[in-house]
Amino acid sequence: MPDPEADPAPDSSSPTASSSLLESEDDGELDLPYWLTSTQEAANTTFLQMVRRLPRLLRDAWMLAWRASPRTTTAVLVLQLAAGAAAALGLISVVGVFEGLLQAGPTPERVRAAVPSLVILILTLAVRGLLASAAAAANGRLSPMVYEAAEMRLLDLTTRVDLATFDAPDWRDAMERARDRGIPAAQQVVDFGIEVLTGMVSLVAVAGVLAVLHPVLLPLLVLAALPTGWAAVRAARLGYRSQLRLIAVWRRQRMLAYLLAAREPAGELRAFTVRGFLLAEVARLLRISTLEEIRVVTRSVRSNLYGQALSGLLTGLAYLVLLWLLWTGRMELAAGGAAAYAINLGIGKLRELAFSVNRVYEQGLYFSDFQGFCDLSVQHAEPSPDRRAPERFTEIVLDGVTFSYPDATRPAIDDVSLTLRRGEIIALVGENGSGKSTLAAVLAGLYRPQRGSVTWDGVDVTRLHPESLRDRVAVVMQEPTRWPLSARLNIAIGRHDQPASLERVQESAEAGDAHEFVMELPRAYETLLSRHFTDGADLSGGQWQRLAVARAFHRDAPLLICDEPTANLDARAEHDVYQRLRDLASGRTVVLITHRMASVREADRIYVLDHGSVIEEGDHEELMAAGGLYAQLFTLQASAYQSA
Ligand SMILES: Nc1ncnc2c1ncn2[C@@H]1O[C@H](COP(=O)(O)OP(=O)(O)OP(=O)(O)O)[C@@H](O)[C@H]1O
Ligand SMILES: [Mg+2]
Repeated sequence: MPDPEADPAPDSSSPTASSSLLESEDDGELDLPYWLTSTQEAANTTFLQMVRRLPRLLRDAWMLAWRASPRTTTAVLVLQLAAGAAAALGLISVVGVFEGLLQAGPTPERVRAAVPSLVILILTLAVRGLLASAAAAANGRLSPMVYEAAEMRLLDLTTRVDLATFDAPDWRDAMERARDRGIPAAQQVVDFGIEVLTGMVSLVAVAGVLAVLHPVLLPLLVLAALPTGWAAVRAARLGYRSQLRLIAVWRRQRMLAYLLAAREPAGELRAFTVRGFLLAEVARLLRISTLEEIRVVTRSVRSNLYGQALSGLLTGLAYLVLLWLLWTGRMELAAGGAAAYAINLGIGKLRELAFSVNRVYEQGLYFSDFQGFCDLSVQHAEPSPDRRAPERFTEIVLDGVTFSYPDATRPAIDDVSLTLRRGEIIALVGENGSGKSTLAAVLAGLYRPQRGSVTWDGVDVTRLHPESLRDRVAVVMQEPTRWPLSARLNIAIGRHDQPASLERVQESAEAGDAHEFVMELPRAYETLLSRHFTDGADLSGGQWQRLAVARAFHRDAPLLICDEPTANLDARAEHDVYQRLRDLASGRTVVLITHRMASVREADRIYVLDHGSVIEEGDHEELMAAGGLYAQLFTLQASAYQSA
């Protein structure tokens, strides 16, 4: 049979009037992207490889369940096995009933002979029912626990990896897959894994009985089941392969769908009248995935049809062999009756098992994504040496520091050396993209340089516990996070590990020039700063920025890094913030990044960055005298003010 999966993806793009801008990217939208090669291997696995994967899948599922709750997992397992044993006993008593009824002699005697087996049958049925219910209850408890454990594991890892990992596209992609499908799959692999186990126990019971009745019947039963199993595994492969093809399409579609429904871009969306354009793009992406899914379903149904038909024929063969055994006197009539019953039961069980195995595979493929992501993240976890950073440092020295973002062609920071001493105000200036924010992130211990060293009082930071280092740093990011928390918590989160009195929060707010506008909010410090909730309020860009400055002050760390803290502030607020920065900085080291040259005049030292390198350094006077880039930028801004 030719492998239909080898077909190239159909041309399923449906051009719409306004999708032309993105059309150029459309080439091979459904081809596997180059960064999916490892998972492509997974999808290319053969039938036999898939069969061999089953034990590992079941083992991984078991380990996950065990981690979620050893007690409940044990309960599920014991109850399922006991229910299986009861089923086996029931089957044996069915044989007894047949033997009783089909023996030679008058009918009342035959019925009487069948009664003890019948009683056992009824009892085992009752016991099995009870056990199965108890197992279902235990399983119902286990399932959400597994979900919880998987979700927590994912979040634990995403927050543990170093920041640069977030800039690595393959990791981000693995994370999205693990989060979107991996976590539900983890839960389902456990659920269906239990089903497989139950199915296997029942099947072993049936097989045992059949083997005792006549050995030839057992291989026949297996043969009859094979085509169904083949169809099930094939359907799972088809599904997964198509998911791999679609993942990039889905991600883009979801991103756009989010933007179409989110508050933040709602204004710009209308202002630029891009509604039709974006809707058409979403529609195009949805269409691609719909067509692909329909294609996969059609193929799966076709495989299933072949599988079922062949299984049906082989079942017929098993019954024919059974008749032949009876005809030629190789088997007793009583045993024949029991065998017919067992074959019927066995086929039913096999079909259920094939279904469960299919589901385990299907979910198992996503589950492997989850496992793969966890392994990848563990590799990217930050090393955490025990040594703690000094409470207060005297000197931080960067020596020949080079840092490149993952996959970048050139370093964002190139061979930078600089020194920060306690109590100094250091300014970083330079044009857009010159590497100021990246350097700030290296200083804050968020990125580890690939070359060169960062030392705190002579100790290389790679030998310090990363969290202890960051504990000594307060950062006002270029784009501060707008935490959907109350105004008070938005500030207090700067030192969330210490109880914060309202007075202390207010002091920090005053330092960041945020107190006044917070008091004007409907519930002052308790106002929830998110429009997504009832009674929530939103702030202006500049107000958010002042809150971020307040948060950094609240952190009360010996090193304060401000990445354009006043970019959104009006002139008066900016002046106030710098005034306070200087007042409150006594004893603290401040690294200031800004495009407003007037604000860096009073810095102890200014570093001018260009394409990731420091091209000038010195104080204002020195740099003006040197007449380089700094002098140019300064004069440009000063003359702009004078002519205004
Ligand atoms: N997360 C990232 N992943 C990959 N490249 C990045 C990332 N952030 C920044 N870059 C690149 O690194 C270089 C330096 O960026 P950086 O943000 O440090 O500049 P900057 O001096 O702060 O600029 P601006 O004045 O615009 O804030 C730029 O070329 C930018 O494209
Ligand atoms: Mg920046």
